[in-house]
Amino acid sequence: MQKFIITGGNRLSGEIELQGSKNSTLPIMAAAILAKDKCVLESCPNLADVYSAARILNSLGCKCSLVGNRAEIDSSEAEGSKIPESLMREMRSSIMFMGAILGRTGDCIFSVPGGCELGPRPIDMHLAALSKMGAEISSCGGEISCHMPKGKAHGARISLSFPSVGATENIILCAVLAEGETVINNAAREPEICDMCRFLRSCGAKIKGDGESRIVVEGVEKLHGCEYRIMPDRIAGATYLAMTAAAGGAMILKNACVAEMEPFISVLEQTGCFICAAENRIYLRRGGRLKAVRDRIRTMPHPGFPTDAQAILMAALATADGTSVFEENIFDCRYRHTDALIKMGADIQVMGKAAVIRGVNRLHGADVEATDLRGGAAMAVAAVGAEGTTRISCISHIDRGYEKFENMITSLGGRIIRE
Ligand code: EPU
Repeated sequence: MQKFIITGGNRLSGEIELQGSKNSTLPIMAAAILAKDKCVLESCPNLADVYSAARILNSLGCKCSLVGNRAEIDSSEAEGSKIPESLMREMRSSIMFMGAILGRTGDCIFSVPGGCELGPRPIDMHLAALSKMGAEISSCGGEISCHMPKGKAHGARISLSFPSVGATENIILCAVLAEGETVINNAAREPEICDMCRFLRSCGAKIKGDGESRIVVEGVEKLHGCEYRIMPDRIAGATYLAMTAAAGGAMILKNACVAEMEPFISVLEQTGCFICAAENRIYLRRGGRLKAVRDRIRTMPHPGFPTDAQAILMAALATADGTSVFEENIFDCRYRHTDALIKMGADIQVMGKAAVIRGVNRLHGADVEATDLRGGAAMAVAAVGAEGTTRISCISHIDRGYEKFENMITSLGGRIIRE
């Protein structure tokens, strides 16, 4: 098992170019099934989860290749409707393929994705919505089978009880080739959903309202291929900004999605960092010590503070002057990184949904284990700013979401090696 060995203490400086978004790429790769044609994706990140998605596409009969950051997906002969259990287990996001496969073939068989590092991750909203669109759903021995008796889905009015990102994406994917109009109320508004919709519109889909809480999809007969550039990864961007905030120094983030990162940037600014964002660049400089964030940082669906950036910002605030408080409202088990930060000297108390971070003078290196993708990244943020050497094991979690992680940190002047 590989490890990251990080020696902290260097101030960071330099510029890095942000990777394409993981959470856009995965649903867009699923959406490519619907085109029955060749799609080319630019700025596709080289990540373990993207490789898993490519394996799912190939298992369905698509021809999918990834050369550099360009993915070519030819789905003209993809007739498969079953996602193999081993691939379902590789990645929770494989559930994204359900709506697309169902939209294309009228059938989909897959296994229950189960819980993950973030706690139980039910798919009740996905299934209830697909059932409203005509799917007959049965489950047997851990396998779920969805079948459209009329061969294709029909439009429906769906009100989500919570703006789930995955459920919103699955409904859209199933609706673009359905008969009639589908309306999603209380839809999730995450930028990655808008990116997937832009891709689908480039293929000929009729979707309105993405980015708002009411999305309307008018089913079309067929789609066609397209060339599409994936949006930048706002959470990877947040990670490198938080790292410079933790270590001190100055950096420029290029290819940044400034508007989409605003909910994170506006909170990071309260730590006293100087941040200047224009067009697709973000400059951050931290001179003196960080200040604690005075208001409670509540994770919320977009445009609220993103749950994916909670651990990352917490790692920086561990050495801020004063006390910061987080409230995690999206996932039940998203404080698993705190034990590692405490081992590194942080003063953190978790009480149910809340985590209270009393800033300490400095963190020190320790041997820690990445608990999940963002939790692992948070440990790296803390390690770059800490005194001494930190060994992070189980870095396969980090490799799921960060392209060339160690190269990025090295080019900012951080000391990190993969062993
Ligand atoms: N939920 C249900 N029932 C459902 C669906 C969701 O109860 O049918 C609950 C979940 O258990 C969770 C909450 O609703 O408590 C939010 O889940 P959501 O469906 O919005 O999340 P997701 O689609 O599973 C995506 C991202 C996550 C990100 C969340 C929230 C991808 C591939 N994953 O997950 O990203 O944290 O939205 O923004 O897009 C990450 O990148 O590290 C990551 C975990």
